[in-house]
Amino acid sequence: MALEDTLTGPVFDRFRDLVYRKAGIALGSTKKSLLVSRLAKRAKDCGCQSFQDYYDAVTQATDGEEFLNMLDCITTNKTDFFREPVHFSFLRDVILTSVGTERRLKVWSAACSSGEEPYSIAMTITDTIQQAERWDWRILASDISTRVLAQAKSGRYEMDRVERLPSDALRRHFLKGTGSAKGTVKVKPTLADHIAFRRINLMDEVYPIKTQLDVIFCRNVMIYFDRTTQESVLRKFFRYLKVGGYLFVGHSESLQWVPNPFTYVAPTIYRKG
Ligand SMILES: C[S@@+](CC[C@H](N)C(=O)[O-])C[C@H]1O[C@@H](n2cnc3c(N)ncnc32)[C@H](O)[C@@H]1O
Repeated sequence: MALEDTLTGPVFDRFRDLVYRKAGIALGSTKKSLLVSRLAKRAKDCGCQSFQDYYDAVTQATDGEEFLNMLDCITTNKTDFFREPVHFSFLRDVILTSVGTERRLKVWSAACSSGEEPYSIAMTITDTIQQAERWDWRILASDISTRVLAQAKSGRYEMDRVERLPSDALRRHFLKGTGSAKGTVKVKPTLADHIAFRRINLMDEVYPIKTQLDVIFCRNVMIYFDRTTQESVLRKFFRYLKVGGYLFVGHSESLQWVPNPFTYVAPTIYRKG
């Protein structure tokens, strides 16, 4: 029997429970064919003969690494520089003009994928604040996936990823690769030095964050969660935000139907208090 034909109802339920319990991702019963198409190759690469074999490989790996590989196959890491630009305009025009005399700013890019989001935040900050080097501004960039985090941390991108950035932004914030890195660019330390990359699973009860945040970007990940999980994540975000702090969510993630303690500001933009 081909591996593709071995995802029986009970085996699918096992994967579904595991993914929900560990990553909060809710796979509806219609997602069976998606799981087959996304996981079959990975399962074969791991030498498995069936989906049950692959389930065993995922759950028995003591370092949890295969679970993360599996998750990378299921979720999309799609992102872009200045994706959903309205959030960056709001950051520039509303938030950065009102942070005031404290000269401190702490932003969390939760589910940052390969880093385009935190680097876009960093570009917005340095391009807006006068004498940004005198400010204490920091960005925490996190994701559940160690693979995308490694890419984010490297700060290196293929030229086609940045081709839509204005040429002066490209010049100011990126270094052109030479030799074997030709055709790529690397984020300059003036941005990168302000960003800490960490693996954080949004399902964790407690996040490793000590100082309260001014802004949280959590975009295009809650769409994978069911309402109960969204509600619990939103309650945690509320705890970690300063009063007056802002939350940005993805364009298709309106909180309208999810009980939450935030004040609505504009579509996909919310505030604490
Ligand atoms: C589509 S990307 C969003 C990237 C970026 N925020 C944006 O909007 O362009 C979704 C990311 O969520 C991450 N993710 C999925 N489940 C997660 C969880 N439970 N905790 C943290 N990150 C998670 C995935 O690894 C993926 O990189």
